[in-house]
Amino acid sequence: MVPCQTIVVMMMVVLVTVQWLGCTCSFAEGYPEDDLVVVLPGQPKVGFRPFAGYINVDSENGRSLFYYYVEAVKEPDTKPLTLWLNGGPGCSSVGGGAFTELGPFYPTGDGRGLRINSMSWNKASNLLFVESPAGVGWSYSNRSSDYNTGDKSTADDMLVFLLRWFKRFPELKSRNLFLTGESYAGHYIPQLADVILTYNSRSSGFKFNIKGIAIGNPLLKLDRDSSAAYEFFWSRGMISDEMRLTIMSQCDFANPKNMSNACINAIVESSVLTEYINSYHVLLDVCYPSIVQQELRLKKMVSPLSTCTAQYVENAGQSCGEDTIFTKSAQSEWNATSR
Ligand SMILES: *[C@@H]1O[C@H](CO)[C@@H](O)[C@H](O)[C@H]1NC(C)=O
Ligand SMILES: *[C@@H]1O[C@H](CO)[C@@H](O)[C@H](O)[C@H]1NC(C)=O
Ligand SMILES: *[C@@H]1O[C@H](CO)[C@@H](O)[C@H](O)[C@H]1NC(C)=O
Repeated sequence: MVPCQTIVVMMMVVLVTVQWLGCTCSFAEGYPEDDLVVVLPGQPKVGFRPFAGYINVDSENGRSLFYYYVEAVKEPDTKPLTLWLNGGPGCSSVGGGAFTELGPFYPTGDGRGLRINSMSWNKASNLLFVESPAGVGWSYSNRSSDYNTGDKSTADDMLVFLLRWFKRFPELKSRNLFLTGESYAGHYIPQLADVILTYNSRSSGFKFNIKGIAIGNPLLKLDRDSSAAYEFFWSRGMISDEMRLTIMSQCDFANPKNMSNACINAIVESSVLTEYINSYHVLLDVCYPSIVQQELRLKKMVSPLSTCTAQYVENAGQSCGEDTIFTKSAQSEWNATSR
């Protein structure tokens, strides 16, 4: 149930070091000229400035987080600063949030250019997207053992990141700060807020001007989140009373590795729905490349379910959602089953 497209962004961010020699334009204090992204390939002309670059969070190991920052469309000097993190764990905030969700540009259909997102959040705020933790997107470490991450190290790195990012963007240091994200960021964001508030309480100098947090479709506690989704499907008449009862009585979502067969069967049966209903927006159809594919799926619906069961289970194991968390929990300290 965790939305997460690990999307390969087709565009390469072109970091251009701008030579201001002989330029009559003046650069506002508190912005790093070297990080200015003058233009992306196929980008429409805009009046706000994007920046991108790396902030080292551990110089000994060589761990560095990639950020993409876009100013608000109008009056960026008076607008708040909003941090956005995608979840996963393992999803890119640049490929996901910035370029397919709330950022100023979307890829064009042919993947060769960019168009304006008319609903971009930078109409209301300055936006900071960070690839977090190291290993996600363009963030990396020179020590491969750093890729064995977890909730705590992720929040600690983000604190170091923000403190150092503000050294590069001192203009934004005292700006109203909002922390936002989706999916597994239901863990990242409250935990980062906690680390920041603790920092504030101990710091006699700089304090973050944190104003609020917002989490969308958050993963908070797996057993409640998962069963709530099936309650919702039932409330919309998408699954039967019997199926709901089976799921509620047979599924122990707190122990996803130890599901009973009755539970798995009920979930597989209900997953047939998502073949043609978008479970994140049940009023929408699923997007298929062609009407022929749509027909093929509907035909499959009328054949006996058992013939498809294995296929459905296999498909479920490949999503970048809860399964990623379960797999990772073996070697990492993600704590999706608790809050
Ligand atoms: C990682 O190693 C490369 C190659 O030695 C180096 O150029 C880079 O600066 C290192 N990264 C960090 C964050 O230290
Ligand atoms: C798995 O579930 C079964 C049946 O509910 C239970 O007897 C068993 O102790 C569980 N195993 C673990 C490791 O939780
Ligand atoms: C996970 O959460 C439980 C309950 O809050 C806690 O006891 C445990 O230490 C946590 N594990 C990690 C790895 O953070």
